[in-house]
Amino acid sequence: MARAPLDTAARYLPPDPGKLSLATLRRRAAGCEACPLFRTGTQTVFGDGPPTAQIVFVGEQPGDREDRAGQPFVGPAGQLFDRALAEAGIERDRAYVTNAVKHFKWVPQGKRRLHQKPNAREIAACRPWLEAELAVIRPKLVVALGATAAQTLMGSAFRVTRERGRILSAPFAPAFLATIHPSAILRGPPADRDEAFAALVADLKVAAKHLAH
Ligand code: URA
Repeated sequence: MARAPLDTAARYLPPDPGKLSLATLRRRAAGCEACPLFRTGTQTVFGDGPPTAQIVFVGEQPGDREDRAGQPFVGPAGQLFDRALAEAGIERDRAYVTNAVKHFKWVPQGKRRLHQKPNAREIAACRPWLEAELAVIRPKLVVALGATAAQTLMGSAFRVTRERGRILSAPFAPAFLATIHPSAILRGPPADRDEAFAALVADLKVAAKHLAH
């Protein structure tokens, strides 16, 4: 039997979405039903930051707190991210922060909503939003936080462990850098946290230095 063509967010966008404003993208994304996650997420959590940002950070998907607040990286991982940014000398207010997938995917576990990794179909359905954000902002550097973001942008063969902390060339921006996801530090063994945090800051300092040039 023939497979139904993949539905994606492209149906909400013109051929050249780079001509739209971030406000228009955000408004259109609020009604996105390109994958089933709109049913379980409270709202679309679109990217946040100025259109003039020179640096765009891409995470995986909003978490529980982000889903309720409607803003990316405001929960525990976001607070760790903010500390790492401050240590690296990057002002969050001047950066644009977004996710590869813009709805929270979760399963109930008692009273909690347990994070679930988005699948390839959900990532592909959401991808036009990320491409549109990058087309509007045209940043100097895109930073992927973790494997989902890195592989969404660079392909499934990309390995953060191998490539992290280096300025790489990419088709969607003049430069790209991958680092770990702040949640990986929170989920990892407490004894490893200081070292993992320092390594995240070191990667972000490479990004800061690139921006300064
Ligand atoms: N993790 C992400 O990848 N993105 C968020 O916005 C929050 C947590």
